[in-house]
This record gives sequence, C-alpha cells and structure tokens, in this order.
Amino acid sequence: MVGPALRKFDSHKAIHDAGLGGAKERIEGMRGLLEKKEYAHLAEEVDSFIEFVEGKIIVHADTEEEENGLYTVAVKNDPGLHDKVQHLIRDHDIMRIIAGKMKDEIRREDPDYQQLIDFANSVIIVNEIHSRDEEEALLEK
Ligand SMILES: [Fe+2]
Ligand SMILES: [Fe+2]
Repeated sequence: MVGPALRKFDSHKAIHDAGLGGAKERIEGMRGLLEKKEYAHLAEEVDSFIEFVEGKIIVHADTEEEENGLYTVAVKNDPGLHDKVQHLIRDHDIMRIIAGKMKDEIRREDPDYQQLIDFANSVIIVNEIHSRDEEEALLEK
C-alpha cells in the first residue's frame, strides 16, 4: 500500500531532500579526502556512500515501484500517467546502474577515485532532476 507519507507532497519531498542532502554532504567529504590523498579513509567513505544510496535512495525507488506502490497506484488512477511513470522508472534504473558501477570500481585493486566521485555526482544530478519531476507529476499538493 502507498503510505500517506509517500502520497503527500510535503512528506514525500522531505524524504527526497533528506536523501539528496545526505549524499551531497558525503561527496564533499570524499572530495576533501581525495585532495589530501587519504585513500584508505576515502575507500571507507565510498563504501558508506554506496550504502547510503542503496539504503535510502534505491530502497525509496523500490518502494515506489512495488505492487500497490505510488507508481502503480498513480497509473491505476490515471492511465494517462503511464509514459511519465515509465520515464521515472528509467531514472531509478540509471541510479541503480551507476551505484552498480561504483561497486565494481571500488572492488578493483587500484580504484580510480576521481571516477568514483564523478559517479557519485552523477547519482546526485539524476536524483535531483528525478525528484523534482516526480513531485510535479505524481504528488498531491
Ligand atoms: Fe522516485
Ligand atoms: Fe520519491
């Protein structure tokens, strides 16, 4: 079922903003560590970033897509939203794919940390565009 928190504009937006804010803060931390060449600590921060994205942003996306989730219910109530919802699901997929690329890179023997930070930034950019679009299209104000 769609909890009221996901259907209402303000509470749903608050979840988006918490995810985005947490991820942005972590990226700032990773940038500082890369500048100081503190690679061991940076590797931990990358792991923590991936966990955060999976635990907050992707879990939230999964919830929206599940049966009786926000997306399914929105299309059921208004079939005209079908294409829009497909686009929003593609945004979720892109974030899942980038998180997967980060996991592959951090597992390598000599990870490219600049690349990892670039991936992290890409998640944020997609997430921000996605959230504003979703709020506009699906949420009751
Ligand atoms: Fe979403
Ligand atoms: Fe959302």
